[in-house]
Amino acid sequence: MPTDLLRPAIIRDVPRISEIVNSHAQLGKMLFKSFAQLYEDLRDFAVYERDGEVVGCVGVSIIWADMAEVRSLAVNSDYMGQGIGKKLVQWSIDETRRLGIRRLMSLTYEQTFFEKLGFAVVEKDTLPLKVWSDCVRCPKRDGCDEIAMVHELYDVPHITAPEAIPTPRGVSIPVLEHIED
Ligand SMILES: CC(C)(COP(=O)(O)OP(=O)(O)OC[C@H]1O[C@@H](n2cnc3c(N)ncnc32)[C@H](O)[C@@H]1OP(=O)(O)O)[C@@H](O)C(=O)NCCC(=O)NCCS
Repeated sequence: MPTDLLRPAIIRDVPRISEIVNSHAQLGKMLFKSFAQLYEDLRDFAVYERDGEVVGCVGVSIIWADMAEVRSLAVNSDYMGQGIGKKLVQWSIDETRRLGIRRLMSLTYEQTFFEKLGFAVVEKDTLPLKVWSDCVRCPKRDGCDEIAMVHELYDVPHITAPEAIPTPRGVSIPVLEHIED
């Protein structure tokens, strides 16, 4: 019997997460992640281990008070179809609930997979603008064909999410007076 473990990611998992995510990114199935992005976002991630080897990963990123996003969901191709993706998404739903966030979204090509996990297709323009911050790094940004899906956690109370306020103006750098030697 294989020994399976789903646990929060730690720093030594990053090379393996990169390998799994980017093997699918090369096939256009998801966004490429650099080591810098993975280190920065590592606290969002969980990994799935089989017999001590990381074979899948997922991240949950907070978008706004009432919305989180499933990011970088990937299972090593040798291990697909064994229920690992489902367990990783279930972890991301539990994590969203733990955070007190009512909706979890995904931008995906895997509509049937996510439907089986309680996600429903929504119009992209119903999502907060902040969702699209990653698009600058996406080669398909001018012709996005991903499907937007949302899982609503009905047991998490609604929250009155504040409106996004305009970014405050930057502080201007004072110009030093010219000093004669
Ligand atoms: C999508 C992905 C995470 C699914 O992981 P997985 O471990 O293969 O999926 P699971 O075995 O947990 O499947 C769960 C259920 O979804 C179904 N399913 C999985 N992939 C599916 C697909 N591509 N199309 C239709 N159904 C699918 C399974 O048959 C299973 O159904 P069941 O519960 O009725 O038996 C995996 O295929 C993957 O890493 N794909 C490449 C990267 C990617 O597309 N990531 C998603 C980015 S949003």
